[in-house]
Amino acid sequence: MKENHIWYPCTQMKEIDLNPLPNIKKAKGSWLIDKNNNKYLDAISSWWVNLFGHNNPEIKKAINRQLNKFEHIIFSNFTHDPAIKFTDELVKVLPKGLEKVLFSSDGSSAVEMALKLSFQYHKQTNNRQKNKFISITNSYHGETIGALSVGNIDIFTKTYKPLIKQNITIQGPECTNCIYKKNRLNCNAECFENIEKEVQKNHKKISAIIIEPMVQCAAGMKIYNKTYLKKIRDICNQYNINLIADEIAVGFGRTGKMFACEHANISPDIITLSKGITGGFLPLSVTVCTKKIYDAFYDDYEKNKSFLHSHSYSGNPIACAAALETLKIFKNQQILNKINQKSLYMQKQIEQNLNNIPKLKEYRHIGLIHVIEINNKNPRFNYEIHKKALKKGLLIRPIGNNIYFMPPYTIKNEEIDFIIHISSEILKK
Ligand SMILES: Cc1ncc(COP(=O)(O)O)c(C=O)c1O
Repeated sequence: MKENHIWYPCTQMKEIDLNPLPNIKKAKGSWLIDKNNNKYLDAISSWWVNLFGHNNPEIKKAINRQLNKFEHIIFSNFTHDPAIKFTDELVKVLPKGLEKVLFSSDGSSAVEMALKLSFQYHKQTNNRQKNKFISITNSYHGETIGALSVGNIDIFTKTYKPLIKQNITIQGPECTNCIYKKNRLNCNAECFENIEKEVQKNHKKISAIIIEPMVQCAAGMKIYNKTYLKKIRDICNQYNINLIADEIAVGFGRTGKMFACEHANISPDIITLSKGITGGFLPLSVTVCTKKIYDAFYDDYEKNKSFLHSHSYSGNPIACAAALETLKIFKNQQILNKINQKSLYMQKQIEQNLNNIPKLKEYRHIGLIHVIEINNKNPRFNYEIHKKALKKGLLIRPIGNNIYFMPPYTIKNEEIDFIIHISSEILKK
């Protein structure tokens, strides 16, 4: 059956007409199966959302239990147990001090909320002039207009420049080609001096610094040193600037800790979470802030201090039930240990089998994010590798010259072997 009506995300539709898409009829564990019975190993957890493999039985049961009660209710002036129980459990595992939870349905909306929240917090605490955000080069925080204003990946922002509010972009870490000639594993985040200079000069205008902790994923899984985060935390404290940690991609275990901020032992003022939050079953996101921020909105109705940001499906009970079950699985199945074991196994296999591929620039990894960066000048390299791998039953989606693996945490060792074997076959050519 030819599909004529869907406009796919981030896609030049002409290419779809030339290369029909696999139409998936079933998914289980690490595998997707299409209508022609081709199998694909999902080595990117379906855009980084699917944490425990497809069709996880526990999450399915939790969803069904909730479905048998009710599907959705208005979340303003009404509440329900799935949201209460989920937020209770979430706050227990979040970095210290994050305790007030706002709901939305996707990552970009959670970022929009974080920016508005920070701006309004300063406005309501007599710092009206704080209306700019700092982000760093290669940042990605989503594709709505507000989120683009703190993004710095040209392909997403360039076209929309006239629509986007001007914020402040600072040169961030470039660890693969460090100009200070340091190594990301033991540097002192010398590149932080760029933020430091800007903040010292303009702190009166700065509402928040927004950062992807430890890894800039959409920029090609750029990993940087934890000291960079510590220094950002310190300067934010010093100048009354909010620190927004965008853990939409790296939260929920991806870097080997429950939240990536834990590597630096810091707590942000606001955190944004989505993607793996429901184990990859349903769209849900949260923006969580400290009580200090919350208190600046808490007053008599007439004072007009409430936070006005709502979505029709805010706090969807089915999604909350899936998210609660996701947290239970983390606890009951010791998922963080599993991530670190799988990561070590993957590292060993990559070092043994992919270290001698031609044009290797760098192999880097953290938790279950493993990246092979290639020296290459062909702008279609990523698409070509994706297509070649797909023919051999492997779903990867390189970003630029970065071939990365971000599999479900439940991946089996023999499935890791398969990823490495197919990648090695393709890359050795
Ligand atoms: C760090 C980060 N922030 C925000 C987003 C946007 O999330 P969504 O695609 O759900 O809008 C993403 C998506 O990849 C992300 O990686």
